[in-house]
Amino acid sequence: MTTRQDWIAALGGPLHGSLVVPGDKSVSHRALMLGALADGVTEVHGFLEGEDTCATARVLGQLGVRIESPAPQVRRIHGVGLDGLRGSDAELDCGNAGTGMRLLAGLLAGQAFDSVLVGDASLSQRPMRRVTEPLAAMGARIDTGPGGVPPLRIHGGQSLSGIAYDLPVASAQVKSAVLLAGLGARGTTTVREPHPTRDYTERMLAAFGYPIDFKPGFASVPGGHRLVATRVEVPADFSSAAFFVVAASIIPGSDLVLRSVGVSPRRTGLLQALRLMGADIEETDSREQGGEPVADLRVRHAPLTGIEVPEALVPDMIDEFPALFVAAACASGRTVVRGAAELRVKESDRIGTMAAGLRALGIRADERADGVVIQGGRLRGGEVDAHGDHRVAMSFAVAAQRAEGEVRIRDVANVATSFPGFVSLATQAGFGLRAG
Ligand code: S3P
Repeated sequence: MTTRQDWIAALGGPLHGSLVVPGDKSVSHRALMLGALADGVTEVHGFLEGEDTCATARVLGQLGVRIESPAPQVRRIHGVGLDGLRGSDAELDCGNAGTGMRLLAGLLAGQAFDSVLVGDASLSQRPMRRVTEPLAAMGARIDTGPGGVPPLRIHGGQSLSGIAYDLPVASAQVKSAVLLAGLGARGTTTVREPHPTRDYTERMLAAFGYPIDFKPGFASVPGGHRLVATRVEVPADFSSAAFFVVAASIIPGSDLVLRSVGVSPRRTGLLQALRLMGADIEETDSREQGGEPVADLRVRHAPLTGIEVPEALVPDMIDEFPALFVAAACASGRTVVRGAAELRVKESDRIGTMAAGLRALGIRADERADGVVIQGGRLRGGEVDAHGDHRVAMSFAVAAQRAEGEVRIRDVANVATSFPGFVSLATQAGFGLRAG
């Protein structure tokens, strides 16, 4: 169990210099899983050394996959092939990672052995029927805890058949779980999404030589082919860069560069929303790295104005709403978010935790079932609770840079799930932030 930690954050900045944030969490999880299922040795560079991805690596180790760490941010995965995983008598602990658990459920659903996937207190409250239902339609047998939450008890020895599945919610995790199960299924597995989501699983399957047909909102895999080991280059995580993008936008005098950030259009809705608010963000040196678009982001302070966030942007910025809410609190006028009910089932209820924290800092934030209305204003010091949610903790650290007094942020230890070294990188850039 992680010990509770707090931060004290206070007026800092302006932010200057050039930073590289850690590797992408979504890509790192997938690289581990596909590397494990491939024939041959896969090298991953730029791997996220976070608690979430390390939990996934440990689970794969329990399943008989040898994963070496020859240098920081490098993993060498000795693939066992699609039929080479071994069962584990012990529970498989995914920690705080929804991506880990949901994708592993797909990967394990068609195996010959039983598995039990468990998680921490937050993950143990998150909805899993969204993956167990389509997997059951393929022939899997998976029991959840009461109400559809973890643990997931997966009964091995089921033979899976491909399905055509229309996702009820836009979710890359569900899509990926179904596609991973489809690799070992009879026939073809097809998923269609109500709105395109991040396509890292599809692109990476293709990079591992697996036949896959995909376009935005659609993916289809035949079962029974092999994956061939490859080298994976992980871009810097846009979701981690997002805290600095917002911070530089709201702190007067800032001029900050974030280098080699993954800028898949399925991730960068925040840039569009901030530009609508008046932000000054320049993408330079746009290039491809390991098949993914990356760019340097230069962010300069600019006065922001509240907006109605276009609903079409919501899936492309789903992890960035806590940071956007902080930008909204510092903007003039009102920002309205709708169509974002998914935020209530993330690592915390992100509408509830963010609205409560902003109110504690003197900002008017009215919750709706599927969003929030935030009236920009003056932030004051105070105490907020991150409820163990990494992105909420970092968002309040950003908010505090514009507060008129010190902000104590409670329960921040889980920042290590996605952003190890956040405090030192942030203070290096100019944040007022320390352990408290
Ligand atoms: C992720 C998908 C998203 C995102 C999460 C990572 C992924 O979740 O919020 O942080 O790696 O596939 P949903 O699939 O629940 O939208």
